[in-house]
Amino acid sequence: MHTAITKPQGIWWLPAHKGERVWIIIAFAWCMVLFAMMPLWHLKGGQNPSGIRHTVEPAAYMARVQEFTNQYKVGEDQGVPIVAPPPGADVYLIGMMWQWYPILKLERGVSYTLHLSSLDVNHGFNLYPLNINFQVVPGYDYGLRITPNQSGDYRVVCNEFCGIGHHTMLGRLIVTDPANPTASTTPATGVTP
Ligand code: CUA
Repeated sequence: MHTAITKPQGIWWLPAHKGERVWIIIAFAWCMVLFAMMPLWHLKGGQNPSGIRHTVEPAAYMARVQEFTNQYKVGEDQGVPIVAPPPGADVYLIGMMWQWYPILKLERGVSYTLHLSSLDVNHGFNLYPLNINFQVVPGYDYGLRITPNQSGDYRVVCNEFCGIGHHTMLGRLIVTDPANPTASTTPATGVTP
């Protein structure tokens, strides 16, 4: 048995074998590559959201969502308002246990700033069937600059476990195409509202 007060056995004091040195050099070089990837991926990776972030009181954010909803409401689906904001508008969506509010009706090819926040706990914004995911965090207003490039009737699935009703937290986001008004009437395949 080896303890700190006895000398270790073997030939550890001899220079390392050439092969071992080669492996250390390779491992170190690879560490440097991965290290360089962190800033490179941040600058060139293209996966960073074009967002603006602010802190916000959840109740204040909720009030802003309500104001936005009252201003641009065009209909209702099972009690949830459908809101059609004008082009270029700031658009507000809130996640809460366990729903997304309101239903957004956006236009294809038009840019918006989509604000996301939560009233209570962390939720996950997942636009189905597209692979778009964002954390929705209470206390933070996350403004994403978006331009929908595909019309459709999408579902907003909660992708962060948020309690007993997590699996029922399903919202709706509609993208209409002014050039082809019937294109968005078919719900996305595989889900029912
Ligand atoms: Cu909200 Cu899971």
